[in-house]
Amino acid sequence: MFKEIVTERLRLRKIKLSDAKSMFLYAANKETTRYMGWQTHNSIEETNEYLKSIMPLYKTKKYYDWAIELKENGKMIGTCGFVNVQTNKEFAEIGYIIHQDYHKKGYGTEAVQSLIEFGFKTLRLTKIYARIYKENKISIRLAKKCGFTLEVQPEHPLTKDHICSGALSYSIKNAE
Ligand SMILES: CC(C)(COP(=O)(O)OP(=O)(O)OC[C@H]1O[C@@H](n2cnc3c(N)ncnc32)[C@H](O)[C@@H]1OP(=O)(O)O)[C@@H](O)C(=O)NCCC(=O)NCCS
Repeated sequence: MFKEIVTERLRLRKIKLSDAKSMFLYAANKETTRYMGWQTHNSIEETNEYLKSIMPLYKTKKYYDWAIELKENGKMIGTCGFVNVQTNKEFAEIGYIIHQDYHKKGYGTEAVQSLIEFGFKTLRLTKIYARIYKENKISIRLAKKCGFTLEVQPEHPLTKDHICSGALSYSIKNAE
């Protein structure tokens, strides 16, 4: 079910082992990774290990994590994808991260909008949700821009020690 997605400026493709160098550039950045559900990478070996760990997951055909590549020059600038895909309940959690040098250019919005379309049309999800720390105003802005609304009673609580006071759950439902 995994497939490459092409948008106006982006190519969303399978993540490769050779993405380590590009990924490390943002995965090692404390600010960029502050609100992620994983720890900042301390060495490129950590990035390599992470990449090795996800390669077999693609073979399950139930792994939905894309490298975000710029069409114009082939640069890998981030990743986006679905975690906790519950095909029986037809919902999934979305996640995204983009290299700090490429923020505020609309790439996040473009990637997330294309994943929403993939999630609803191809995976036939009825709901996509994002757990976003209250402090992560930019991610909240992006989610709202893409049509996500705040869930009154969050179904999926989350905390990250010392850093964040708790996550809000934003979701979007398939209108069809
Ligand atoms: C969240 C993230 C992916 C957004 O990516 P992006 O490519 O910069 O997003 P966009 O350019 O599409 O911008 C989306 C909105 O956020 C705003 N925005 C983006 N970066 C901003 C910044 N540094 N300061 C203020 N607003 C910002 C944009 O202006 C836009 O809003 P607008 O259209 O109303 O003006 C990026 O900031 C990131 O990688 N953050 C770190 C990882 C992260 O927190 N992931 C989410 C975990 S829940």
